[in-house]
Amino acid sequence: MKIGSYNLNQLKEKYGTPLYLYDETIILKNINIFKNNFKSHHFQTEIIYAGKAFLTKYMAKLINEHNLSLDCVSRGEVFTALSSNFNPNKIVLHGNNKTEFELTEAINQKIGMIIIDNYYEANLLLNLNNQNFIPKVMLRINLAFDVNTHKYIKTSIEDSKFGVPLNSETISLIKKLKEAKNLNFVGLHSHIGSQILDEDYFYQHAKLMLKLYYDLKVNHNIILKELNLGGGFGIKYTKLDNELNLKELLNKLIKTIEIESKDLNINLTKVSLEPGRSIIGNAGYTLYTINQIKKTPHLNYLFVDGSMNDNLRTALYQAKYDALIVNKEEKPHHTLYKVAGKACESGDIIIDEIYLPEALPDDLLLVKSTGAYHYSMASNYNRLLIPAVIFINNDQLKLVVRKQTLEDLVRYDEEI
Ligand code: LLP
Repeated sequence: MKIGSYNLNQLKEKYGTPLYLYDETIILKNINIFKNNFKSHHFQTEIIYAGKAFLTKYMAKLINEHNLSLDCVSRGEVFTALSSNFNPNKIVLHGNNKTEFELTEAINQKIGMIIIDNYYEANLLLNLNNQNFIPKVMLRINLAFDVNTHKYIKTSIEDSKFGVPLNSETISLIKKLKEAKNLNFVGLHSHIGSQILDEDYFYQHAKLMLKLYYDLKVNHNIILKELNLGGGFGIKYTKLDNELNLKELLNKLIKTIEIESKDLNINLTKVSLEPGRSIIGNAGYTLYTINQIKKTPHLNYLFVDGSMNDNLRTALYQAKYDALIVNKEEKPHHTLYKVAGKACESGDIIIDEIYLPEALPDDLLLVKSTGAYHYSMASNYNRLLIPAVIFINNDQLKLVVRKQTLEDLVRYDEEI
């Protein structure tokens, strides 16, 4: 298997393993699926890439070049974007726990949109004395809409830490926000969860939000013009996963919004989506070297040179992955392996169960669809090093993040 015109053995020679590899052509394909299929003659549409899935200066540059907006959840994400000259007006600032300092900084930076997560934050913003820049704001609503995904990545259940329910307190707040001179309140945001593989949830979600817009208009004379429906489009990690047909889904979602808003007589000017995983997930791979094979009474362990530090998703969400042994793709996949890493933790599992050809030390293992929430959740547990990130576009290769060095590990330690 090659990525672009690059052979995986050559990449190992040059950059070492573990190594995060991205096929830029797949990222561009995914971006275009969103841009070409989520558009309407009735309202403007906006695709906001969720940087939490994967963000580096080069990724921010790519997102900018392709005219997407960027969802940031921290000062660090904003700083990364601004360091690559990302237009602050195209940044959407999220976060369930923003401080007065962070909100003030965002306004000073002229961040285009701030999504208010709760009442406390709303009051902080209402009381800021900003006059030089009036940010657009939205309020994040929790619809108490449960979806079928891992409990850690549901975001819209009743007791979620995100958003506020649409009750009388929220309606009073919306009125205040609309009247505020220092804010430009444009609408509501709702994100129902992540890695959702049942398309119906997305249509139901859009309908529920439009019904809210209708109720606000008819019962409270509140007219909202913009709507942000979040992200959450799941990807196929293994053969057992259902695969969303994103093109069809997005076209159907647009139609649903157009029909429903027409029926309810809601004149929207803009509808936004915030995909993260579906832009970057299937474009990424992790390349490992197999160091050792260990048999226990019931298992065959494959020990690779990475760990839960570069793939937290298996330990945290019991995520499943497909993988191949380089140059053995055609051999019979008869042996059941558990792929584990170097961390001092029994839960340090990269793939819990996978049938592969007979493996030998020094073989290369390529784990697929590791583009989202891997590099961005990587850590230095056990003082293991975070791998390099390489982007490949056909015959062009870019080192996007260099591999950490041992010196990097002690960089913040004071000499005492
Ligand atoms: N918008 C908001 C407000 C979000 O909270 C998220 C994800 C997204 C957009 C992007 O969702 P996506 O399209 O990527 O599903 N670490 C977890 C995922 C956490 C997602 C958190 N919020 C994982 O590895 O599965």
